[in-house]
Amino acid sequence: MAPSVTVDTINPKVLKCEYAVRGAIVTHAQNLQQQLQTNPGSLPFDEILYCNIGNPQSLGQQPITFFREVLSLLDHPPLLDRDDTHALYSADSIDRAFKILDSIPGRATGAYSHSQGIKGLRDQIAAGITARDGFSANADDIFLTDGASPGVHMMMQLLIRSEKDGILCPIPQYPLYSASIALHGGTLVPYYLDEATGWGLEVSELKKQLDDARSKGMTVRALVVINPGNPTGQVLAEDNQKEIVEFCKNEGLVLLADEVYQQNVYVDDKKFNSFKKITRSMGYGEEDVALVSFQSVSKGYYGECGKRGGYMEVTGFTPDVREQIYKVASVNLCSNIPGQILASLVMNPPKDGDESFESYTAEKDGILSSLAKRAKTLEAALNSLEGVSCNKAEGAMYLFPRFDLPNKAIEAAREEKIAPDLFYAQRLLYATGIVVVPGSGFRQVPGTWHVRCTILPQEDKIPAIVTRLTAFHEKFMAEFRD
Ligand SMILES: Cc1ncc(COP(=O)(O)O)c(C=O)c1O
Repeated sequence: MAPSVTVDTINPKVLKCEYAVRGAIVTHAQNLQQQLQTNPGSLPFDEILYCNIGNPQSLGQQPITFFREVLSLLDHPPLLDRDDTHALYSADSIDRAFKILDSIPGRATGAYSHSQGIKGLRDQIAAGITARDGFSANADDIFLTDGASPGVHMMMQLLIRSEKDGILCPIPQYPLYSASIALHGGTLVPYYLDEATGWGLEVSELKKQLDDARSKGMTVRALVVINPGNPTGQVLAEDNQKEIVEFCKNEGLVLLADEVYQQNVYVDDKKFNSFKKITRSMGYGEEDVALVSFQSVSKGYYGECGKRGGYMEVTGFTPDVREQIYKVASVNLCSNIPGQILASLVMNPPKDGDESFESYTAEKDGILSSLAKRAKTLEAALNSLEGVSCNKAEGAMYLFPRFDLPNKAIEAAREEKIAPDLFYAQRLLYATGIVVVPGSGFRQVPGTWHVRCTILPQEDKIPAIVTRLTAFHEKFMAEFRD
């Protein structure tokens, strides 16, 4: 009997969805890694350098001690009653673990929680947001999630009714957006970031694309803004954010603010401002703008991607819509409890006077200053290559250099029936073991070619990356220069 499930009979929305960050190039890299293990010395390099994904701990970043202390105590609460625990753990991690345990109904760390997350942890997160913004936040607005991704899916599920519903997304974008819009059957309405002005976000461009989509009969429901940007690394200026809020208010769009890189800012002249703070500072309240802010434990200086923690702060929706969001959250029962705990910790790290404060600050500053240094070194190296220009990584974890590839290389890619930036990335991988993601996975201005490279390899690996990349690029250009 023929199989009843074939790719021709599965949901076409699944077929349409793509996720480049874990795409073909990564599969090639994994095969090469296997080859290096079984047959060392068979390739022109001795290790694969994964610069394709924002997964800091996979590249050697160490977790923050305080966060892990609290998590481990709560994973096994009997530790809290042992005397020797005081010799092993900081006093404030023990104190915090007790407080969190007391806030969990029945002190049951293995039970399902409220579908929005444990109320005591949401209180902590709301307090953290209030301290960050100087405007109050409410625990009832917080939905704890298994990372930011499920929150984004939940909002797409809520907003998209059919392909006539459009979501304005930056191009280049993080492929979670194109993928989730495709899965939920909506239409991505692109707005282009301006590479020439450091990936500037122009409201005139938003307006142009919105009007264009509306003229085609589309209902545009929301605007996605990623700040700091992925893959583009820009940090929005406050005035620009105000214009964006005004635009959403005037056009009746939900503002989906992806703020997962809020702790990753590397330049002195820019600062992260949440859209919630900007909106409230403009005097706008619940009735003016619908705003969802996504935060995650995966990024920042914590980089706890595998713990799957995050939250969305949902404001400006009517109570009946909020009820529906709650219903969708409750279909998943609840997010995982260690992820919930971690989300409360990253929004409430140790404070001055706490026993861990000094070591916590040293760990945090060490990670962030090293990331800034790595970003600078890689940016300079990329800018020194023939035909390559790279904007500054003001924030986030990526560089997104532009490659003006020679026509001969573009032709060669065409013959292989692949995009020229994939052609470059594949050649780079096979020659050097360096894994980057072709820009086509994030979308880009047609006819331009980019790759995304993370700044995450540890400092001692950066010189090798620079040397290998430079040598490869020189050879590539010698082979294909017009
Ligand atoms: C801009 C952006 N948003 C959301 C996510 C999803 O993160 P997570 O689901 O791990 O919280 C990522 C991950 O790389 C990201 O870069």
